[in-house]
Amino acid sequence: MSGRMENRVAIVTGGGSGIGGETAIRFAEEGAAVLVADLDPDRSANIIDKIKSFGGRAEYSKLDVRISSDADKMVSKAIESFGHLDTLVNNVGGGRGDDLINELDEETWNFNFDFTLKPTYYCCRAAMPKLLESAESRPGAAIVNLSSVNGMIAIGLPAYAAAKAGVEMFTKNIAIQYGSRGVRSNLVAPYTTRTDFWKPIFEADPETPKRLGDLNPMRRIGDPIDIANAILFLASDEASFINGALLPVDGGFTAGTDIFTRSGGRAGEQFWSSHAETGNF
Ligand SMILES: NC(=O)c1ccc[n+]([C@@H]2O[C@H](COP(=O)([O-])OP(=O)(O)OC[C@H]3O[C@@H](n4cnc5c(N)ncnc54)[C@H](O)[C@@H]3O)[C@@H](O)[C@H]2O)c1
Repeated sequence: MSGRMENRVAIVTGGGSGIGGETAIRFAEEGAAVLVADLDPDRSANIIDKIKSFGGRAEYSKLDVRISSDADKMVSKAIESFGHLDTLVNNVGGGRGDDLINELDEETWNFNFDFTLKPTYYCCRAAMPKLLESAESRPGAAIVNLSSVNGMIAIGLPAYAAAKAGVEMFTKNIAIQYGSRGVRSNLVAPYTTRTDFWKPIFEADPETPKRLGDLNPMRRIGDPIDIANAILFLASDEASFINGALLPVDGGFTAGTDIFTRSGGRAGEQFWSSHAETGNF
């Protein structure tokens, strides 16, 4: 049986660990040749070794996602290594700063945009000519960009949220500009996911994963594989008519709130029946 990414060449930025690492592995398991583009060669070597251990194909490209010429080199490396390019996953990004905005300094603001929004532009711009070339001769050219629940609802990280919301509108614009030429662009928006980013925070307070998980209807945080499987789906032909979409992978966090049902006891029955009589809620 052939894999869902057979004969595809994919770049995964930040593919050295976490969500990107798991995505690189899932892509390779499904037959893709993967360029792991990451700042950290050691982490990346670990993922590449895992891929090679099951006979998959992977190469490394040193990428500092904040440097536009690195994005160009990354695309050239994919072509040199594997001949063409079908899939780009813009995974590097991250947030800093829960300050009230009158206390939010410019350095924090710039960090979020330089690390999250601008790189998405650099990498999409660098990859698009090769994605278009691929789309001329085969189906399946696709971009998957990483947003966050922070790009969808306000939870108190203003600069990061603004940068991720920017990633969302940027991606939707690419979707409408290039869909007719065979390149689909979509987004995944994760909830808190257990990656190295969180490691020191979880180590400092081991109750944090449970506390954050409890805010979520599924009562857990995400694992990288949860997000990687969603990215794989959007990159694969199973999503061939999905373009410009945002897929929350958040256990229902952005679907609404269960604070009413929680405050009313089991499934909220008492709460709703008592308030339905008075209409008082
Ligand atoms: N982990 C979460 O809780 C969570 C939640 C919502 C959204 N996201 C989003 O998912 C994506 C991945 O998150 P993660 O937690 O897996 O990331 P992470 O912080 O664990 O880092 C992933 C990889 O990025 C690499 N990296 C760091 N700086 C880089 C740079 N300047 N250039 C190139 N590579 C660099 C690291 O070496 C690492 O291998 C991000 O866009 C993030 O905003 C994550």
